[in-house]
Parts: sequence; C-alpha cells; structure tokens
Amino acid sequence: MEKIFKAYQFVGGHSRLFDRMMTSANLMSRLTLRLFWGLNAQAYQKFLAQAFAGVPKNFGGRLLEIPVGTGVLSLPFYKNLVGAEIFCVDYSDKMLEAAKLRAEQINLRGVKFFQGDVAALPFEDNFFDLVLSINGFHVFPNKMAAWEETRRVLRRGGIFCGCMYIKGENRRTDFFVKKFCEPQGFFSPPYETVSSLKNFLSEKYSRVEISHVESFAGFVCIK
Ligand SMILES: C[S@@+](CC[C@H](N)C(=O)[O-])C[C@H]1O[C@@H](n2cnc3c(N)ncnc32)[C@H](O)[C@@H]1O
Repeated sequence: MEKIFKAYQFVGGHSRLFDRMMTSANLMSRLTLRLFWGLNAQAYQKFLAQAFAGVPKNFGGRLLEIPVGTGVLSLPFYKNLVGAEIFCVDYSDKMLEAAKLRAEQINLRGVKFFQGDVAALPFEDNFFDLVLSINGFHVFPNKMAAWEETRRVLRRGGIFCGCMYIKGENRRTDFFVKKFCEPQGFFSPPYETVSSLKNFLSEKYSRVEISHVESFAGFVCIK
C-alpha cells in the first residue's frame, strides 16, 4: 500500500503529464497509448465509451467514483449529470488536489471529494445507486476488500461499472505492466482475465456484462 501511495503521490504532483497520457492529448501520449496499451485512436474512443457505458444517460441518483485520480476522464463527463449527487474518493491527497482544481476550472459544482481507502469506505451499506471504478482494480492492493466494499455500499438493483486492466490480451502490454507498472507501484497483481472477471463478478452480481478493448475490460453489473 505504501508503495502505491508513494507512486500516486508522485503522479499527483505531476498531474499534467498524467492527464496528457490519459487523454491522448499530444503525439507523445498517442504513441504511448498505441505502443504500450495497444490503443490506436479508434480503440481509445472505445476504451472511453466502455469506461462510462454503465452510467445511464441523465442519471440522477447517488454516484460513488472510486478512485477518481485527477478526475481527468470523469469530471468532464459529470457536467452532463445535472441531477446526480456525486461522491469522489481517492487514497492520494495529491491526486485529489488535482481533481478538485479541475472541478473548479471546469466549473463543476457540488461534487464531494473524500480522501479514503477503497478497502474501508466511509459510507453506509446500500448508500449508492451507482458505483463507478475506472482503472482502479488493477491498482488496489487489497482487491478482495475492494470488491466487497464497492458492493456493500451499493443498493440492491444498483449499478457497478467501470473498467480495468486485464491480462492475456496483448503481450506487449502485459510485459510493460510486469516490468514497469508493477515495480514502480502503479499496478498491483493479481490481475483478472476476461473470463476470470466475468466468472468472479457473476458470483457477486445478478447481471454482468463484460466487454474489452485490448487489455481493458469494461464491466456493467447489477446488484
Ligand atoms: C490509475 S489511477 C486511476 C485514476 C482515474 N480513475 C483515471 O482513470 O484517471 C489509480 C488511482 O487509484 C488510487 N488508489 C490506489 N490505491 C487506492 C486505495 N486503496 N483506495 C483508494 N484509491 C486508491 C491512486 O491514488 C490513483 O489515483
């Protein structure tokens, strides 16, 4: 946990670089996305669509996002969810600082930010209508607790959705994850495959849909 915390505190302090990488904002980031993650322009758009596929249009309930990171992908998306009550959690206060700044810059009001651990969420059982997790489950060190907690705070009939890295789809990506992301504390094993994720989530949720683009799986589950 300490290693991951340090890694993301560092990223939070260099959030502009992270944001460029995540948004395919320049030539360098497009090359990185293509080379390491196998995402060309079209696949990147699919990756984005998949990440948010579970959030209904005009969603107006209580939404938890964990981990929000710098909010580079999600906060602009929330501008469309006018009636929703949005709670964003991340363990790294530096990442959260960047997210709060972004919310101000894009004039996104009313989003609540919390520093916290996905393994011990500070919310009551069944509190949320939707839990969104983008690029979190390949990072969280205590994955079982993370699966349990995200389910615990979701009401019956609520939606659990988002995306995560899965192994076994692109050898270059898997190599990069093992040799760089893991040792640097950006990712932590074990990782799911498309089928292990589907099987695992099907035991916990009544309806499960899994998609994938290269090494990223999208999931939409109903509790
Ligand atoms: C790859 S970033 C993803 C951020 C964002 N969802 C995105 O896609 O841009 C992973 C985030 O997980 C956070 N994180 C790592 N372990 C955590 C934990 N145990 N509880 C909550 N957040 C955690 C890190 O601080 C980091 O901001």
